[in-house]
Amino acid sequence: MLKPLLVHDDSDDFAAAVLAGLSQPQKVIPARFFYDHAGSELFEAITELPEYYPTRTEIGILTAHAADIGTAVGPGRAVVEFGSGSSAKTPLLLRAIAPAAYVPVDISAEFLQQSAAALAADFPGLTVLPVAADFTQRFRLPQGVAAMPKLGFFPGSTLGNLAPMAAVDLLRSFGDVLGPESWLVIGLDLAPGATKSRETLEAAYDDAQGVTAAFNLNLLTRINRELDGDIACDDFAHRAVWNADLGRIEMHLVALRDTVFGVAGTYFNMAAGETIHTENSYKWTLPEARLVARASGWEPVAGWFDAGARFTVQLWQMATVQMAP
Ligand code: AVI
Repeated sequence: MLKPLLVHDDSDDFAAAVLAGLSQPQKVIPARFFYDHAGSELFEAITELPEYYPTRTEIGILTAHAADIGTAVGPGRAVVEFGSGSSAKTPLLLRAIAPAAYVPVDISAEFLQQSAAALAADFPGLTVLPVAADFTQRFRLPQGVAAMPKLGFFPGSTLGNLAPMAAVDLLRSFGDVLGPESWLVIGLDLAPGATKSRETLEAAYDDAQGVTAAFNLNLLTRINRELDGDIACDDFAHRAVWNADLGRIEMHLVALRDTVFGVAGTYFNMAAGETIHTENSYKWTLPEARLVARASGWEPVAGWFDAGARFTVQLWQMATVQMAP
């Protein structure tokens, strides 16, 4: 199963987050709750959809340019991957850069074991040191890589699922974890522009087979199962829209008719047309990406793109602190 990113072991706070989110004027459920077992499988299916270009586009860019990354960063680095390695992307990078060690970081010990074992089998002789940690919080790397130069790896445009302030916080904490003179390879999905239409983007989040709709609606099934809910899932439909002002795709569950439902003993009313906001996926212009990098202590060094300029793989280096002129 593909690793869902930004997953928390959330059994304790699912109820609290859902009850608080459904009590707001704009109802909201945090996107991290998508990834129960069924949600993780649906996300894996999304990455293979014809409309969902990010995964295969990023793999294409890495296939074409991993050697350029290797040339820029040199051999002998400890590669620290934030989120356990996905099947296709990590080997592309590791093969091109002759790393000294590979450190997958993930909160899920199960995924960590799987990805570490798979990588170790593919790269005999490579030191693999899995770290079970929530990478959205500060954590320490194993002693074994303390003296090695570091390369962070954060593919998948997962940064886009965070609001800009949280994205800056996360990138700053990557810098703290990796230390001075480290590098970061990060995948970012680009905003619509000259070669990328709004339709391409919206279709990626509202596919013809309805897999993304099922992924979104699965949240309601999960609430019913885990929080003693009685939501009529048929009362809701999936909606994905590009919010040009905020530069993000928004996913919502829209009520098709007036509906009332209970969750953990509390009842909620929704009028026809009202929505539950379930995900933001920010898309980047290059100036925005550069600004966020610099605001987080990173200096953009190189970037690679697909022919349609839909997605970019960026190489950033930790900025050296300069005195103001
Ligand atoms: C995990 N993340 C980068 C995906 C995205 O594109 O924002 C999650 C997703 N949501 C709907 N489709 C995919």
